[in-house]
Amino acid sequence: MQRKPFFYDITLRDGNQSLKKPWSLEEKLFVFDKITELNIPAVEIGFPASSKMDFECCVELSKKAGDTLVSVLARANKSDIDKAILATKDAKKSRIHTFITLSPFHMEHVLNKQKEDVAKMAIDAVEYACSQLKNASRTVDIEFSVEHFGDCSNNLDFVIEVLKEIVKKGAKTINLPNTVERYRPLKFLAMVESVKNALGDDVIISLHNHNDLGMATATTVEGFFKGATQLECCLNGLGERAGNTDFCQVATALHNCGVESGIDLSKLYETALVISQMSQVKIYEKAPLIGPEALAHRSGIHQDGAIKTKDFEFGAYRPINPTLIGRYDDEKIGFTSQSGKTAIYDIIKGLKYPITIKESVYLTPFAKQIAQSKGELTPKEVLNLYLDKICNIKGPFELITFKQVEKGVFDLFFNFKNERKEVIGLGNGPVDACLNALKKIGFEVKLSNYKQYSIDADKDSSQAQAMSAISILDDKKGEIIGRAIDTSTALANVKAIFNALNQIYS
Ligand code: KIV
Ligand code: ZN
Repeated sequence: MQRKPFFYDITLRDGNQSLKKPWSLEEKLFVFDKITELNIPAVEIGFPASSKMDFECCVELSKKAGDTLVSVLARANKSDIDKAILATKDAKKSRIHTFITLSPFHMEHVLNKQKEDVAKMAIDAVEYACSQLKNASRTVDIEFSVEHFGDCSNNLDFVIEVLKEIVKKGAKTINLPNTVERYRPLKFLAMVESVKNALGDDVIISLHNHNDLGMATATTVEGFFKGATQLECCLNGLGERAGNTDFCQVATALHNCGVESGIDLSKLYETALVISQMSQVKIYEKAPLIGPEALAHRSGIHQDGAIKTKDFEFGAYRPINPTLIGRYDDEKIGFTSQSGKTAIYDIIKGLKYPITIKESVYLTPFAKQIAQSKGELTPKEVLNLYLDKICNIKGPFELITFKQVEKGVFDLFFNFKNERKEVIGLGNGPVDACLNALKKIGFEVKLSNYKQYSIDADKDSSQAQAMSAISILDDKKGEIIGRAIDTSTALANVKAIFNALNQIYS
């Protein structure tokens, strides 16, 4: 059977302790609901000895936690452990999480203690927590963390010996935090493997990686494959300094690797937005999966691949189909000097205007030139370029007026190479009449296609607009499309004919 990760959320403890304004009880209750809505089975709800408010939060959250395992943090001393036990007394499923550093640097420079004394504190703390829980007839669920485990490479044998004692005293979960990420994931994970091998399969190995070098997700994901079962993660990667391991990234990466965790991935994006608001910590632009830019493509090659695989589960230039995490905004195609025809095509189509690839190719150098000096074009700027260069083509033909004189009779007034021309055309409708009028004075036009679109994209205009697309066959240039927009359909038609003629005659 496939191993399943056990997700342990630390947003309400490690995340909360790093906030500029830690959450109130009401806020913690709200965030707790968001965490459990994701189906995360275990939540570290606080550090009862840290403040009266946090103690009360732990009491209230313990009461409402239901089947979610709630865990509280306690330093390796009796007073913290007593508070932790008291704070969780009403929880259906609770855990006491005690910790102390075993790193040589920390024991010497921060605790100012000999390693033997620190080892005793750790072992005694677990023994004490265990006996107090037993006395209170409560389930013994104790997690012990080696704070700064990542700094223990030089005294790993000592750490393992202490942990063996701690397990004998009753700790079921051994957490191996990379409290400050300083080195390589694989170096750290080799240490994790040594501990796991020494403690045996009955002990649950947990990882808690801070993100100081930006590799916490990698360490946690690979750590799962090296045998760690409990993965301590934080929503939006909140936490001290550069934060803790980001929950969304780990859950998604494991999903991509075929590891199912029981997490409701479809709520991840919405939850991330809520947590950002609650924590006042912005989601940075390039944040993987959830950042505003995470679905943006700007180079021509990437845009082409992204558009060709848009609705696929597996995208050419994205790690997931964003709907997996409940993200429904489209992949963003922005036009920059690095972009190409596909971007123009996609942007104009996205704005509900018709365009052909040939027209996109024609527009590309103009768009690139603008983008070179000003940077990315907004969709509106791309549209303006399209309207200017495709729907309003300048050339020798300049329409002055086209009016119906009576039913089936139209007066066409225009300049050709600055020479005034006025001619009456008869026809079933404006297109027919205009073509007949032009034919009369020597401009034979072969119509090959005609389409009419209603344009509702111009939000600035209150009047409905029509777009005509008139295709004309030219002996030399092949099929030419003339497009034009006007509030009058008749004028849109005639302007479109003139736009096509200007392409042929220039
Ligand atoms: O980062 C850390 O080492 C911790 C422990 C208290 C688990 O947060
Ligand atoms: Zn931490």
